Amino acid sequence: MMSDESTWILATDRLLLRPLGLDDLERLAAIQSDPEVMRFFPSGPRSQDQTLADLERCMKLQTEHGFSLWATIDRQSGLLIGRSGLLPQTLPDRHEVEIAYLIARSHWGLGLATEAARAIRDHGFATLGLDRLVSIIHRDNLASRRVAEKTGLRPERMIQFMDHRCWLYSIESRREIGGSLE
Ligand SMILES: CC(C)(COP(=O)(O)OP(=O)(O)OC[C@H]1O[C@@H](n2cnc3c(N)ncnc32)[C@H](O)[C@@H]1OP(=O)(O)O)[C@@H](O)C(=O)NCCC(=O)NCCS
Repeated sequence: MMSDESTWILATDRLLLRPLGLDDLERLAAIQSDPEVMRFFPSGPRSQDQTLADLERCMKLQTEHGFSLWATIDRQSGLLIGRSGLLPQTLPDRHEVEIAYLIARSHWGLGLATEAARAIRDHGFATLGLDRLVSIIHRDNLASRRVAEKTGLRPERMIQFMDHRCWLYSIESRREIGGSLE
């Protein structure tokens, strides 16, 4: 689907992020059916019906929270090349907001996930006023851990998440303390 630049939430040099809609089903389902892309997700590759449920959940989250996973569009081609954004997560000891990213295999290694994640981080802190963001990453997902690190998140502790040992990465917003920035 070509992107309508008037509806975007975030723009970077190469990407537009806009709310996901049902029109994204075919393209996102193709990306999420790739076993390599879904390697570190407990559900594995997702069927078209599962991706439809994902889209409906994202649309509901956007309405309820004002944030969600967003369609991640290559500005040059106008094509959806992934989904990235913010997700509420409930861990045993606290509620968190997670920076999440997933990019089509055809577009890996170009710095696009990092470009999206940095813009999402800034949006979470500056626009939404969040004071902490996390990423929950399978310990063997080295590319994702690298993206988190390049986005300024630091490994905090290991957690058990959906039957997997994962790193909880986190970053706090910069707060004013005694008149100077931390
Ligand atoms: C993780 C993912 C989003 C990264 O997307 P991307 O656009 O290729 O990421 P970037 O190009 O911004 O950065 C990737 C970094 O990981 C590094 N990397 C890639 N594969 C790696 C590996 N097997 N081991 C170590 N580092 C690796 C790259 O070299 C790069 O780091 P560098 O810039 O220091 O060289 C992409 O691989 C993906 O969609 N994976 C499937 C979905 C997923 O796992 N999402 C995260 C869930 S927590």
